[in-house]
Amino acid sequence: MFQQLVFTPNEFAQLAKIDKSLIPALESNGAIHTERKRIGNVDRKIIALEEVQKFFKMLREFDEAQHPEVNPESMGAGAEAAGSASIVSEVLHEASKYVAAHPKHKIQMFYNVKGGTGKSTLTAQFVMMASILGYRVLAIDLDGQGHLSVNLDVLDAHERPTIYDVLINDLPIADAVMNVAPGLDLIPANLQLCNIEIPLNNKTRREYRLSEALEKISGNYDLIVADTNPAASILNGSMLVASERVNVICATNPLSFHGMSLVMATIEEMQREFRRTLDVKIIPNMYDNREVISQEVLGELRSQFPENCAKSVINRSADLNEATKRRTTVLDVNTKGTAAGDIHGLTHELLG
Ligand SMILES: Nc1ncnc2c1ncn2[C@@H]1O[C@H](COP(=O)(O)OP(=O)(O)OP(=O)(O)O)[C@@H](O)[C@H]1O
Ligand SMILES: [Mg+2]
Repeated sequence: MFQQLVFTPNEFAQLAKIDKSLIPALESNGAIHTERKRIGNVDRKIIALEEVQKFFKMLREFDEAQHPEVNPESMGAGAEAAGSASIVSEVLHEASKYVAAHPKHKIQMFYNVKGGTGKSTLTAQFVMMASILGYRVLAIDLDGQGHLSVNLDVLDAHERPTIYDVLINDLPIADAVMNVAPGLDLIPANLQLCNIEIPLNNKTRREYRLSEALEKISGNYDLIVADTNPAASILNGSMLVASERVNVICATNPLSFHGMSLVMATIEEMQREFRRTLDVKIIPNMYDNREVISQEVLGELRSQFPENCAKSVINRSADLNEATKRRTTVLDVNTKGTAAGDIHGLTHELLG
């Protein structure tokens, strides 16, 4: 389960892009806190999720002047301590290059009118990874199927308020927000959301209601990410109005590629209609480098949409399916696998 995720020192070092031999120095300077936990029959050194989040938060704010506890000048306890503190300072400076202080695009959505391309899977993996990296994240499920909610291990969404209550019944948006893990909130979805199009169509300023509601809570978060329903719906249109970045998930198969021109045209039209300028990123998913067709589609995406195609490619991987099944982050399934690396890379690209 994501909330109970713990990291071994090795896993933490890999995530933070630091040398694992430096962890004792980080520990003695209070930059990271480890504990001992019995896992099976073995007593292991672990780092809890909240500690990792705290570390990345500190890294993002890292500035020696503001963090005298890791400043050699402030140690005053002899040359050895000062030396270790200076190593820590150096390490933190180096590591801080990899984490953006603030995401470049705070409000993002995962979108494709085509179904089954991996929107909900990648939204869930992205929000969990961003939350591990210490960002305060709000995830919004805009699909009546409620797959993002399930992926985040929320199984009682049918009993909870959704964005339907906010947009149609004037529920204050803060009342629709639930906490799913440290640093990660969610507005869940249930089947009721499938009936939102007609009542939403009858509302005044229908496409602006979502962005106006989000403005009220946006100050509580570093990142707001929505998973959408596979349609050109008014609800998705509302999220396009609210968003700064649209991540279009394209499976690397011919039909998914065929639908891309339509998706890009829909986004263009929305931008014109609502006078918005959106950053559009196409994320190739389910790539298999052993399949010629996968290679061809990736090549076509890159040549037809050179400005928009993401650098990251998400390979087809059983780990992602397993993470969906276990309703957790792929790091919980296999930290060292290709999928974990792909999601880590994608998260950094989408935050930068
Ligand atoms: N890179 C991948 N490798 C392996 N399986 C994947 C990958 N991406 C997604 N999947 C699997 O594909 C299935 C469909 O993914 P998902 O539900 O995320 O698609 P979607 O675009 O949200 O679908 P919908 O349009 O119905 O909302 C899931 O079972 C998921 O685990
Ligand atoms: Mg989905």
